[in-house]
Amino acid sequence: MSKVALFPGSFDPITNGHLDLLKRAAKLFDSVIITVAVNNRKDSVFTGNERVELIEECIKNKSWNGQIEVEQFTGLLIDFARKKNVNVLIRGVRQISDFEYEFRMALTNRRLAPDIDTVFLMPDEQLTFISASIVKEIAYWGGDLDSFVPKPVAIALKNKFKDKSI
Ligand code: PNS
Repeated sequence: MSKVALFPGSFDPITNGHLDLLKRAAKLFDSVIITVAVNNRKDSVFTGNERVELIEECIKNKSWNGQIEVEQFTGLLIDFARKKNVNVLIRGVRQISDFEYEFRMALTNRRLAPDIDTVFLMPDEQLTFISASIVKEIAYWGGDLDSFVPKPVAIALKNKFKDKSI
């Protein structure tokens, strides 16, 4: 039986940290479904379709991209996991400050769906400070994004913020 995992997140946008986690997940699982949460309750810079397209663009030249699917979802993550018949969720933990939120989310998901477990992965230590919100702030103020996000994301962020009113 093939081992499949969901890698859920907002991915608004995908960062070098996410890509590092994805590469690690692809080593551990036969396939990984990146599940882009499109949640009307959250403000996002990129639409669901834009986030999916950016992820696809960023992984298209990776040796492991054959193992990856990208999908959008709305609603509860465990409902999407059930629909896909997957019982492993992957989440990244960058530092201790992430842990409290991740622990609560993992236990909430387990209470809702006891058969679904969360696996935590750590990114490369050089990437532990990168977050989508930091990246958006740098982009907003016109900073250099090259060491934070893949090229297509840097270009997309620049376009999004080029007409910003300060
Ligand atoms: O990248 P993020 O924003 O930290 O990802 C959080 C995400 C999207 C995985 C989480 O908010 C989520 O699963 N949302 C869907 C709604 C849900 O299932 N909530 C219950 C778990 S707390």
